[in-house]
Amino acid sequence: MLITNHAQAMTVLGDARYVPPPVRRDGGEGTLAWLRAQVSRFSSGETHAERRRPLVERLARLDPAELRAAARTMTAERDGDWRGVPTAVLGAALGVPDTSAVPAAATGYLSGEESPQADAAVAVLLDVADLPAITLLLQGHAAMEALIDTALKHASPGDDVDALLHETLRQDPPLKATRRLDIRTGDEVTIDLVAVNRDPEVFAEPGRFDLARGRTPHLTFGAGLRPCPAPAHALALAAGVLEVLLREEHR
Ligand code: HEM
Repeated sequence: MLITNHAQAMTVLGDARYVPPPVRRDGGEGTLAWLRAQVSRFSSGETHAERRRPLVERLARLDPAELRAAARTMTAERDGDWRGVPTAVLGAALGVPDTSAVPAAATGYLSGEESPQADAAVAVLLDVADLPAITLLLQGHAAMEALIDTALKHASPGDDVDALLHETLRQDPPLKATRRLDIRTGDEVTIDLVAVNRDPEVFAEPGRFDLARGRTPHLTFGAGLRPCPAPAHALALAAGVLEVLLREEHR
């Protein structure tokens, strides 16, 4: 089933009958498949709650305003060469000074696509970080880079960075869809996040990119039982980078 309607998406995301599609549980210890079988993102019920708790606690110790300032400083120091900055800043805040293995591991983390490169990157990360920190770094990496890329495409001189990010998240979500399995029927449900964020019942003139909207009830960070625990952190990191890139000398 494909869901394109905002109200239906909210119903599915808030109902425990819909769980993330299961991942394989027989991956060798320390591989990407093994990692995916350990994390909150792909588990459900009590296991999900137990695995999510330390992530939320860890995030609560990070101050989004400090992340934003650190992302600004690092982007400026790198003279606008921003790729990897959000992850490096997040890593430093989580006590992981070297995040160079994150991109290779993150590629397969959400999709499940396995490769020797991804397994090697997971092994490197396991040497330098604990599971909650690795989970946070891998979960956020690709979405933050995609958000900044897309925001830059929409940006005009003088734009307010926060308004630009809110509307980019609504109109061009970095993650285009999320999936669930209906445990009663076995049916797979795909929520089309682009479509639900343009549901005309909820968003006036949904096709228009409009910075004046401010915050909207878009579902880009999920909703219901297992929303993204880090929207404030993601926004802060992206905003810090963009504040530098949208200054005149980098345009
Ligand atoms: C623009 C950036 C981001 C977007 C669009 C985004 C979006 C999402 C969405 C939609 C989900 C829920 C998936 C579902 O319900 O199927 C999710 C979950 C999650 N996100 Fe984010 N995210 C972003 C950045 C981050 C960052 C920076 C972190 C870490 C600091 C993070 C950590 C997580 C974690 C740990 C989960 C799993 C939560 C759980 O298992 O309950 N995300 N994210």
